[in-house]
Amino acid sequence: PEAITVAELANRMAERVADVVKSLMQSGIMATQNQSIDADTAELIIEEFGHRVTRVSDADVEDVIKTADDKPEDLRPRPPVITIMGHVDHGKTSLLDRIRQANVTAGEAGGITQHIGAYQVQTKGGDILTFLDTPGHAAFTSMRSRGAQVTDIVVLVVAADDAVMPQTVEAINHAKAAGVPMIVAINKIDKPSANPTKVRTDLLQHEVVVEQMSGDVQDVEVSAHTGQGLDELLEAIALQAELLELKANPDRAAEGAVIEAQLDVGRGPVATVLVQNGTLKQGDIFVVGEQYGKVRALINDKGERVAEAGPSVPVEVLGLNGTPEAGDVLNVTSTEAQAREIAEYRAHAAKEKRAAAGAATTLEQLMKKA
Ligand code: GTP
Ligand code: MG
Repeated sequence: PEAITVAELANRMAERVADVVKSLMQSGIMATQNQSIDADTAELIIEEFGHRVTRVSDADVEDVIKTADDKPEDLRPRPPVITIMGHVDHGKTSLLDRIRQANVTAGEAGGITQHIGAYQVQTKGGDILTFLDTPGHAAFTSMRSRGAQVTDIVVLVVAADDAVMPQTVEAINHAKAAGVPMIVAINKIDKPSANPTKVRTDLLQHEVVVEQMSGDVQDVEVSAHTGQGLDELLEAIALQAELLELKANPDRAAEGAVIEAQLDVGRGPVATVLVQNGTLKQGDIFVVGEQYGKVRALINDKGERVAEAGPSVPVEVLGLNGTPEAGDVLNVTSTEAQAREIAEYRAHAAKEKRAAAGAATTLEQLMKKA
């Protein structure tokens, strides 16, 4: 059952808590400001104060942010979003760094590339690829459990001088569970002890059959140190992306997912958002998880201010009222009141859920003791 604390009710009506407590008392209900009252009682009080009752339900919230299905003729190709996964020390970061280094344009080479946990590169063939840097396995899992499917392709990095390790298997399972195609990058091929064949046979045991073993999972031998095989890897990704026929509608209100977020001392709450559909623009009003805001500034992966960000583009978003969590979904709304209402509704619902979970544990503990 829905409930609201007396303090929150007063707050939402912009009335004094004491007045609400008094009004409740007159209706024969003794409640302090931190106590919850049920929705029916709240409705009575709201009417007593001469306010209009608008009950927000899950469905209402969904309706507000549900945009019309995109018409096929409005869809445009969008860049693929790639997550690099693999066991500790198998060279994920080195590989990403090398790809970025080799692909930053001459003009930017001297500049400081701001690290926003996600960036775009252009291949020699002209394809734009979006790489996600941050999602470690835990983040990936939590994002998936929140329903944020951000990645289109997983690049599984396996060190050729090592073998398939526990986190390699975890990554394989993640990719399979998410139904995301995989490309195997056999890294550290420059090492004298490299044994790529062992990697390929190891993978067989986990039902990953690479092309070299007559399967259909692309595999590329690479070295983050020498740069060997990196162009082939990017081409493999571009090829895989082509098969996926990824599309989005850039001409609608934006929808995206939070890749990472933090409270920045100078700039306030900052979220790195991957735009998944539509175009996010400066001045847009949005709700993101339990937070809301108005886009004050958008900063791209090169640290530049941009006016807007389209599908598959990662940007830092400034102008939030609070710090969202990785995996939270961002939706642009038409009014600030709407954005705030949805955010508050979600925060309230989450609080109720936590309270309910807390109560259940307590009950369980009681039963155990008995
Ligand atoms: P975690 O983020 O800790 O999981 O590791 P990672 O997968 O990002 O590996 P990282 O890129 O930090 O590389 C681990 C070590 O392997 C570093 O010492 C790298 O210099 C080395 N390394 C990475 N790639 C190569 C390669 O292609 N060849 C050689 N010889 N060494 C490599
Ligand atoms: Mg790393």
